[in-house]
Amino acid sequence: MGNTPTDSAPTWTPGARELADLELLLLGAYPSLPGFLNEADVESVRAKGRLADGTPWPVPVTLELPEDVPASDRVVLQDPEGVPLATLEITDLAAGEVGVQVAGTVTLLNSPEHGPFRRLRRPAADVRKGLPSGPVLGVVLRHPPNRRDLAEMRWASQQLGAHVLMFPLLSGQHPGAVVRSALAVCDETGERGATVVPVPLAEPDDPDREFLLHAHVAAAYGATHLLAKGDRDDAPIPLIVPPAMAYNTADDTWLPAEDIPAKHRRAGLDDSELTALLDAGEPLPEWFVPPDVAGELRAARPPRSARGLTVFFTGLSGSGKSTVARGLHDVLLERGGRTVTLLDGDIVRRLLSYELTFSRADRDLNIRRIGYVAAEVSRHGGVAICAPIAPYAETRAEVRRMVSEVGDFVLVHVATPLEVCEQRDRKGLYAKARAGQIESFTGISDPYEEPDDAELVLDTSKMSVDEAVSKVLDALVEGGWVPGSHQTD
Ligand code: ADX
Repeated sequence: MGNTPTDSAPTWTPGARELADLELLLLGAYPSLPGFLNEADVESVRAKGRLADGTPWPVPVTLELPEDVPASDRVVLQDPEGVPLATLEITDLAAGEVGVQVAGTVTLLNSPEHGPFRRLRRPAADVRKGLPSGPVLGVVLRHPPNRRDLAEMRWASQQLGAHVLMFPLLSGQHPGAVVRSALAVCDETGERGATVVPVPLAEPDDPDREFLLHAHVAAAYGATHLLAKGDRDDAPIPLIVPPAMAYNTADDTWLPAEDIPAKHRRAGLDDSELTALLDAGEPLPEWFVPPDVAGELRAARPPRSARGLTVFFTGLSGSGKSTVARGLHDVLLERGGRTVTLLDGDIVRRLLSYELTFSRADRDLNIRRIGYVAAEVSRHGGVAICAPIAPYAETRAEVRRMVSEVGDFVLVHVATPLEVCEQRDRKGLYAKARAGQIESFTGISDPYEEPDDAELVLDTSKMSVDEAVSKVLDALVEGGWVPGSHQTD
C-alpha cells in the first residue's frame, strides 16, 4: 500500500476532468505548469496563450473546491475510491463557477490507480527513458486508425527516421477501442517501431488550443515532432504534415496520392461511409481498415440490429402510451432476437420511484432514473421501452443525450388530445383532478410540454392500439433496429 496523509488536512475528490488534469500534472505531462493555475495565469492563458510569466501554455488548468471544504492551506486530493493521490498546497483563491477556484502546487502521495489501461499510463520521465534515441514522431489518436492514418504515420516516420509515439485519447466514448487498435497496429507504423501511451486529455472548447495542448503533452513525453493536418508556427515542437494518401489498387499499397497513377488510385472511405457500413452490419473493406481495427470499430458501433435502443413514449395520462408500449414489448418478444425491458410509468412509480411526488423536481428525478436504467439497458445492447408522462422537454432532452452516448434513442409522442384522455378516464384520476382532489395533475393543473423533436407522433383517438403498435414497429424495422421479416399473425 502507498502513503496516506499523516496530518488532518481536509480531503476532496475532484470531478473527472480535474482528476485527469491532476493525473497529467502528477505524471509530468504538464511540465510548464507549477500546478493548478491562479486567476492571473488563467486570464493570461485565455488572452494570450501564455502564463503570466510569458511561458507559452494554451489552456487553463484549474480546480474548484466547494465553499464548505474547510478553509485550509493544504487539501488532500483523492481518487473516486477515496485513495489519497496528492496534496495541494493552496497559494491562491478566487471565485469559481460553482465554488472556490484554488491554485497551488501538487505533490504525489500515491500513483493513480483508477481508470483503464493503468499500466500504460506511465510517468512522462519513464516513457522518455524507454524511447530509442533519435527523432520521435508524436501521433494523437482520437479514433482507431485506418490504413490512411497508418500511411500518414509511416510516411512521416520515414521522412524523419523516427520512432512513433502514439497517444490514444481516453476522453472519447470508446477509449478501449482506440487504445487496443493503437496496440494492434504498432508493427505497421514504420521501421523504427512504436510506443503507445494513453492520455486522459480532456476536450478544451477551442480546437486550436486543444491542438497546442496535445503538442505540449507530446513534447513532455519525448516527442520531437508531431503529426499534424496543417502547419502553424506556435507549436512547441515542429509539425509534420503528410500529403494526401491514397490506395494503389495495382499493388495493394498506400502512398502519397500523387505517386499513384490515376487509374489505380483509390481514396479512402470518409466517416459517413464507414458509419453506414457499420450500421448496416456490412464488412469493412480490408484495403481500408486492418482486421483488428475493424473488429474494434464493429464492437464500438454494432449494426443497428444489435445496437442498444431506447424507445421513449411520452404523453398525457390516459393517452394510451402504456398500452402501446406494452403492445410493442410483446411484439418484440414474439419476434425474438432482442432482449426487451419495459419501464412503464406506473410500474416505475411503484418500484424505482415509490417515494417521489408529482412536483417538478420529483418528476424530473423520476425521468432521470428511468433514463439512467434505459441507458444501461442500451449500453448492453438491449431494447428499453419507457412510458412515463415525462412532461418536461428539458428532462426528455437530457435522457436523449444520456442514451445517445451509448445507443440509439427514438422518441414517440402519444399525442391523444386531452379531451379524449379525460373522457376515457380509466383510473378516475381526471375526475378527481377536476374536483380538486389531486393537485398538480398533468394537463389539468400542471403543464405538459409538447415535444417538437419526436421521431414519431401517434394519436390513439384516430387509430387502434394494434395500428399504433404497427406504426412504431414499422419505424423500428425501417431504422434497421429490428429485422423486417415475417408476420407473426
Ligand atoms: S411523470 O410526470 O413523472 O412522468 P409518471 O408517468 O411517472 O409521471 O406517472 C404518471 C401516472 O401517475 C399517471 O398515469 C397517473 O396514473 C398517476 N398520477 C398520480 N398523480 C398524478 C399527477 N398529479 N399528475 C400526473 N399523473 C399522476
